[in-house]
Order: sequence, then C-alpha cells, then structure tokens
Amino acid sequence: MTSAAVPSDRGERTLRELSDLITPMAIRVAVTLRIPQRISATAATAAELAADTNSDTDVLERVLAHLAGAGVLTRDENGRFGLTSLGTQLLIDDGRPEFLDLTTVVGRAELSFVHLLDVVRSGDVVAYAARYGTSFWADLGEEPSSAVQFDQVMADGMKKRVDEIAVAYDWAALGRVVDVGGGNGTLLVGLLRAHPTLRGTLLDRDAGPATRALDEAGLSDRATALSGSFLEPLPPGAGGYVLSRVQSDWSDADVRIILGHCADAAGAHGRVLVIDEFTADEGADTDTETDLRMLMYYGGKERTLEQARELAASVGLTPRSIRRAADWTIMELGASGPARR
Ligand SMILES: C[S@@+](CC[C@H](N)C(=O)[O-])C[C@H]1O[C@@H](n2cnc3c(N)ncnc32)[C@H](O)[C@@H]1O
Repeated sequence: MTSAAVPSDRGERTLRELSDLITPMAIRVAVTLRIPQRISATAATAAELAADTNSDTDVLERVLAHLAGAGVLTRDENGRFGLTSLGTQLLIDDGRPEFLDLTTVVGRAELSFVHLLDVVRSGDVVAYAARYGTSFWADLGEEPSSAVQFDQVMADGMKKRVDEIAVAYDWAALGRVVDVGGGNGTLLVGLLRAHPTLRGTLLDRDAGPATRALDEAGLSDRATALSGSFLEPLPPGAGGYVLSRVQSDWSDADVRIILGHCADAAGAHGRVLVIDEFTADEGADTDTETDLRMLMYYGGKERTLEQARELAASVGLTPRSIRRAADWTIMELGASGPARR
C-alpha cells in the first residue's frame, strides 16, 4: 500500500464519526432521560442517575461511559458524570435539543431513518409508515400531545416571518383567504391582524387549535377554521388559497392533487399563494438534511422555485408575482387556461 492510500488518522476518525450510530443513539437516550439537566449543576454516578430515571444501573453506566469517551460527558475518579463544554450544548434551547428526545414528535420520526435502504431500493416506501405502520399525519391525529408539539414547531418558524409576509403582498385585495393546511392559525391570525378588512377560513386535519387561536385573538367574527383534507375538493369562491410550507410534505403526484384542488376552488379569478423556503437552484448547495427528512417522514421533498413553478403549470396555474418575505418566497399563481390534469 502506498502512503497516499493509507487513510490519515483524522480521515479515519471522521469517517467513523460520520457512519457511527452508537454515539447519536447514546446522546438521544441521555437527552430522553434528561441526563444533561440532572448533571448540569452537580455530577452524579450512574447508580444515582439510574435511580432518578428508573433505569438499569449497569446499562446506563455503559452508555454514559461511551459518552465520556466521545467527549460529551466528563467522568471523575469516583465515577461521577458531568458535562463537557460540548455536552452543555444539550442544555441550550436554541440548538433544539428536544428534537433529540426520542419521545417527541421529531425524535420519534427521526428513527424512521433506519429504513433508508428500503426507501432507496423502492423509491416510494415512506419510511415513517414502514416503521410505525401508519402515516406521520395519522399518527399525529392519534396523539394530541404530538400534534401540539408539531404545531408549536411550525408556529415558531412562522412567528419570525409572519409580519413580513403580511406586508409583502396585498392580502386585503383578496377579500377572503383560505389557509389550506394552516396548522394552528399563526399565519391567518397575523394576516387578519395586519389587514382589518380581510376575512379568512383555515382548513386543516383538526380545526381545534386554529379555532382556539382565532378566538383568543378576538378574530372569530372574521374567520373560521374547518376540519378537513386538502386531498379532497376545497370550499370554492375565496379570493386566495394559501399553501404555506405544505408542498415539501408531499410527492409530486400528491402536490398536483392539492394544487389542483386549490386551482379548482380559486376558479378563473382567484389566486393560489404558495409560501415556502424554496431550495437553491438545481446544482447549487441544497439543504440535504431537510430534503431527506421530508423523504423519510412523509415521502416528500424540498423543491426549487422552478420545480414548484413546473408543478403549478401542470395543473394550469401560472405565476403572477414572486415576492420575498424574510427568507421565504410568496409565489402568487393564477389560472393560465385549461388544466392538464
Ligand atoms: C408543515 S405544516 C405547515 C403548517 C402551516 N401552513 C405553516 O406554514 O406553518 C403542514 C400542515 O398540513 C396539515 N395537513 C397534513 N395533511 C393534511 C390534509 N390531508 N389535509 C389538511 N391538512 C393537512 C398538517 O396538519 C400541518 O398543519
């Protein structure tokens, strides 16, 4: 073997770290058991932590020992575990350590990555369904606390941008908007607050959270929420149909169905407003992590603006304007003639 073919130490370590499932799972178990919080002020032994977390001392000790070796925990001569500076990142909210908690909606969905090979081979197996025997959305419907967590994650991202979305487009000119898959109503509430003459309807799997949000915001006289599916025809006649961050959750075939229902309901004069953080143009760096998450959780994908435009064209919708709102894009679509569905 020539020296050039001998992997460097650094290269070898990096490859092992990149392909290792042990450390990520050990970190996730520690987060799920709230080990970082338990040892943030005072180091503790595996026996103490096992008693606190109703766990097996021997097994927990072995997992924590691995994390000490990986540089996440410290271990003193009395077998007490503490946090390294790397480990303290597990306490910082901004890093969203709760996503590592295996009992949260995201932590649970991440485990579907063990089915990646099946997805690669088949092209259409949805990993989440392969793991849990049901779709991500059906599962949310079964577990109200997961649905609340999911809505909260979505609402956190929306709250940062809703003011810019509200001024980036003349929403009032639409008269009435239907927020299709509008979640817990964060966007609709923001639009209605900014445009006092605008009226709204929100449609999602469960109208409960949005109904409460509209009520709390004192907007129930101008908007209602409906439980229903955008895979079925939508209530017609509104000036605008908003699809915010919905398309990434679905395959091209399903997006055509959803966009088609929006186009039918909007008719010749209504508008369809697609709001998304589109990925960079083909060939440029894309957020491959998010793209693969969309694939595994839902059978969806991240798309470029051009790909979204092509899908819209396939159901007879053509762009009327494209605006930026914070780091997201609002693509305004209108009927372009007979649909090719
Ligand atoms: C990624 S979230 C986006 C939420 C919101 N539009 C936003 O931008 O924050 C996707 C939404 O689609 C909803 N959804 C999923 N399947 C649906 C269906 N078949 N019919 C209606 N809504 C659905 C989910 O409940 C969720 O609220």
